[in-house]
Amino acid sequence: MWRVKSLDAILATAEKKSLHRSLGAFQLTMLGIGGIIGTGIFVLTAEAAQKAGPGMMLAFVIAGVVCAVAALCYAELASMVPVAGSAYTYSYAVLGEFVAWLVGWALILEYAVAASAVAVGWSGYVVGLIEHSLHVTLPVALTSGPYIAGGIVNLPAIIISLAVTGLLILGTTESATVNAVLVTIKVAALVAFIALALPVINDKNFHPFAPLGTPGVIGAAASIFFAYVGFDAVSTAAEETKNPQRNIPIGLIGSLVICTIFYLLVAAGAIGAYGAQPVFGPAGEILAPGSKALADQCSTLSAAGDMPLVCSREALAHVLRQIGHPAVGNMLGIAAGIALPSVILMMIYGQTRIFFVMSRDGLLPGVLSKVHPKFKTPHIVTMITGVGVTLAAAFLPVGKLADISNSGTLFAFLMVAIAVMILRVKQPNRPRPFRTPLVWIIAPIAAAGTIVLFMFLPHDAKVLFPIWSAIGLVVYFSFGFWNSGVRKGVDEVPELDPNAPATGVPPMPGAPAPGSKEERS
Ligand code: ALA
Repeated sequence: MWRVKSLDAILATAEKKSLHRSLGAFQLTMLGIGGIIGTGIFVLTAEAAQKAGPGMMLAFVIAGVVCAVAALCYAELASMVPVAGSAYTYSYAVLGEFVAWLVGWALILEYAVAASAVAVGWSGYVVGLIEHSLHVTLPVALTSGPYIAGGIVNLPAIIISLAVTGLLILGTTESATVNAVLVTIKVAALVAFIALALPVINDKNFHPFAPLGTPGVIGAAASIFFAYVGFDAVSTAAEETKNPQRNIPIGLIGSLVICTIFYLLVAAGAIGAYGAQPVFGPAGEILAPGSKALADQCSTLSAAGDMPLVCSREALAHVLRQIGHPAVGNMLGIAAGIALPSVILMMIYGQTRIFFVMSRDGLLPGVLSKVHPKFKTPHIVTMITGVGVTLAAAFLPVGKLADISNSGTLFAFLMVAIAVMILRVKQPNRPRPFRTPLVWIIAPIAAAGTIVLFMFLPHDAKVLFPIWSAIGLVVYFSFGFWNSGVRKGVDEVPELDPNAPATGVPPMPGAPAPGSKEERS
């Protein structure tokens, strides 16, 4: 159970792999931004405001700092072990199979549940866009899960989840060009928001700054952490990266820094231009984001003609409409509608890749790495993932999904921070193309930061995580423990036919297709 996969075996496997190394630093940074900017900033700003009020600016800083220190740890491991599998693979090499399994299992929350969250966020924007531009009211029963009075099922979220799954089965991956276009659209939308909101900031909107105190701010940081998730997708592209030792750290940290700057400006604009105070219950009680009580209170306020930021399912478009730019608000809605599906695509894709590596290691059944004869994609694992993503998106609110996803991500980040320190002690002389600066300060801060944020997640997410891990243990001891390749002495995968997509893994979204003009240039 504590057996480790030797780093040398992992690296030897990687050497033999046939994936094309086509991504450079710029493409990786774009890939990172493509994965990072999504529902977090477009939708969950409302959730953060409900917890922290204007203090959500601090929440963005706290979550950004935890991600930055975690990214520095990721970067060291990613540069040493530039193979697919991310935190799962690093843990396998350093902390052993058991911890690796737990991390891989937690990554299901990170990727698959995040995909559901983004699908629900997308639904909010598209519904809002249709209602505002066509002046029709769509039935709540079909546009919300049962968490809102009258809601039954979130049909738009189902449609987008299934559509993206279908595209992945057909073998669609974003070309670098498509990724670049989508990143441009998202960034343009945020720039437009900042440009219209910042000039009309009113200082008064920043008071009271933290109506729910420090716990509110840290709680908001734990939730808004979701807005930064996705940068680690850069490290899963390690096998497709040119000079990964240099480019992976640039991609990870570069995308994170750029997104943090955008997030702070957007938050300042939303708070200052429109206001971001929490909504309290009729008796002045605190209402949890995503709760029925908050939804009811929002209905009451909206009937009275008041629509605070925290009540909106399309926070940024809402602010623009309220400050007198309805057309730009609708355009921002269109931008979110076009660009968010690529985040879903990346998350589901990342999930199938993690499953793929776990199945290659024998910890999950081999059928998961089966490749469709015509489409050459791992269709079975993609279908299973897609159905799971769709079900969660159909019935759960975006904030809850984001919090659940965060619990898994924080656990994975914690393990990465620990792995970096252990490896420094155990294998001090192994070449480290990128060394985490001040590792004995940065890695403990990353570990402590992830633990603190986890502790401040809402109760449901904190309880669900151990239950999820317990289910994982049952699965491990019924299957993976007995079938593990390392246990059977197969420490590396068999050599792959360099000409066939035998891994079943198409190039990372954002990677030029093998042999394409983009790749050759
Ligand atoms: N960071 C990504 C988002 O906010 C997951 O949608």
